[in-house]
Amino acid sequence: MSATKAIENIEASSVDQIASHLNQLVADSYGLLGQLHLAHWNVEGTDFLPLHQMFQEQYEELFVAIDEIAERVRALGNYAEGGLKKLASMSRVNESPSASAASAKDFVSSVLLAHELVIEQAVVGRKVAAEAGDTESEDLLIGRVRIHQKAVWFLNSYLK
Ligand SMILES: [Fe+2]
Repeated sequence: MSATKAIENIEASSVDQIASHLNQLVADSYGLLGQLHLAHWNVEGTDFLPLHQMFQEQYEELFVAIDEIAERVRALGNYAEGGLKKLASMSRVNESPSASAASAKDFVSSVLLAHELVIEQAVVGRKVAAEAGDTESEDLLIGRVRIHQKAVWFLNSYLK
C-alpha cells in the first residue's frame, strides 16, 4: 500500500497540519535532546551518577523516538525537517542554564521545563490527529505524552 493509499481517508489539509505538528515536535524534542546532553555531561555533585545515568536513559529513548516521529511525517507524504540550524530555529526549548556553574537542581529544572514543553506540543498534535481520524499519528503521540509524563514525575521527585 502506498503512503497515499494509507492515508486516503484523511483530508489533505489535515495531513499537512498533522505533519507540521510532528515536525514541530521533532524540533522541540531536539531542543530537549540538547539540554539532556548538556546536563548529562556537566552535572556535578553528590547526585552526579544517578543524574548522569538518568539523563542518558532519557536522551537514548528520545533519539529513537525522534526518528519515529520524523518517519511518520514521511509516511504521511510530507518532508521531515532536519539539520541543527533549522531545528534550532524552530525549537522553543529554553537553553539555560549554560554548561558551567549550574547546580544539579538547575539542570533538572531545565530538563523538566523542556519535557513539559514537549508534552504540550505532543498534546496539541495528538488532538489534531484525533480530530482528523489519523489514529496512527494519535497513537504515536499518546505514547510520547506518556513517556514524557513519566520523565516529569522522575524529575519532579528529585526536586522535592
Ligand atoms: Fe555519556
